[in-house]
Amino acid sequence: MPSPLKQRVHIVGTGAYLPSHVLTNHDLSRMVETSDEWITTRTGIKERRVAAKHEATSDLAVKAAKKALENAALKPETIDLIIVATATPDMFFPSTACFVQKELGIKEAVSFDVSAACSGFVFALETGRVMLESGLYKTALVIGAEKLSAITNWKDRNTCVLFGDGAGAAVLQRRPGRGGILSTYLRSDATHTHILNVPGGGSRTPADADVVEKKLNTIHMDGKEVFKLAVHKMISAAQIALKLANKKEKDLALLIPHQANLRIIEAIAERMDVPREHVFVNVDKYGNMSAATTIVALDEARRQGRVRKGDLVELIAFGAGLTWGAAVIQF
Ligand code: ACO
Repeated sequence: MPSPLKQRVHIVGTGAYLPSHVLTNHDLSRMVETSDEWITTRTGIKERRVAAKHEATSDLAVKAAKKALENAALKPETIDLIIVATATPDMFFPSTACFVQKELGIKEAVSFDVSAACSGFVFALETGRVMLESGLYKTALVIGAEKLSAITNWKDRNTCVLFGDGAGAAVLQRRPGRGGILSTYLRSDATHTHILNVPGGGSRTPADADVVEKKLNTIHMDGKEVFKLAVHKMISAAQIALKLANKKEKDLALLIPHQANLRIIEAIAERMDVPREHVFVNVDKYGNMSAATTIVALDEARRQGRVRKGDLVELIAFGAGLTWGAAVIQF
């Protein structure tokens, strides 16, 4: 049992930014051979946001970060740790977190990126929590941000209907009192690297005309395999993290699963002892925003008044790697 005097790491502010351009299923049906009916019944997605050509991932991240700082009533100069979870960095280097630091005008901080695909935010949250608990850092900005439209093959109907752009941010501090991040659970299984990846453009197959021609620098996925593993792994992570926090499924005010596909979310809800109205869904509006999904959803839930003081919330995520994880947070 943790000591009641232990200062846990709390989420003290959240923010999100979604690009203004909305791409509907009807728009997509004019680009590839698909229909609103197919996309809606197979995925639950109705529309997604697409960033402007000039907007990079860090531009989305900075807008989300500013809102999170405002929500926390803190100034950028209080931040001494910036972690950005992303699969679509502005550049190979510097890190997207360094671009965020520059744009926020923060002179001294430790800034770096975390790569865990769609599980990125939960992995970054755990990294931030442990670093704050070390006592070496005081206030962290943890961001999930993606411009997936930049690595989407807009001619492949198997994948292009699934993804969207967006960013969410959380401000973390160690504070006395009840609540905070009660537990986390992270895992990776590298036997499935082949079912979801971007095969070209990295050091294995550097970008050249052939890579671009064959669209190897875009998302490749075995949808059926991903689906099966996602349901199983997310439920197991959700249950283990709850056990570590000494809580039960029925204690959850809100379960926020990774928003990849409504059928995956419904399969999780059916197998867990959580009423459907306690399971958060916004995949219909934004599609799969990879590392941004869970934090955008948490911010939206807080702004809708669905997270009150004392409420228990669980984030669960799953992504390429494979990676998966969960975090149990009391507000
Ligand atoms: N419109 C119309 N038809 C389509 C479309 C489309 N957009 N996409 C595929 N099809 C066709 C295929 O060509 C195929 O046709 P065929 O049978 O003639 O070959 C058929 O539809 C495939 O249908 P199903 O196999 O029944 O499709 P399924 O029910 O498996 O749904 C989907 C596909 C939506 C991709 C599903 O498998 C899924 O959501 N998987 C998980 C994806 C996911 O979560 N990915 C993100 C992981 S997180 C990360 O790290 C990025």
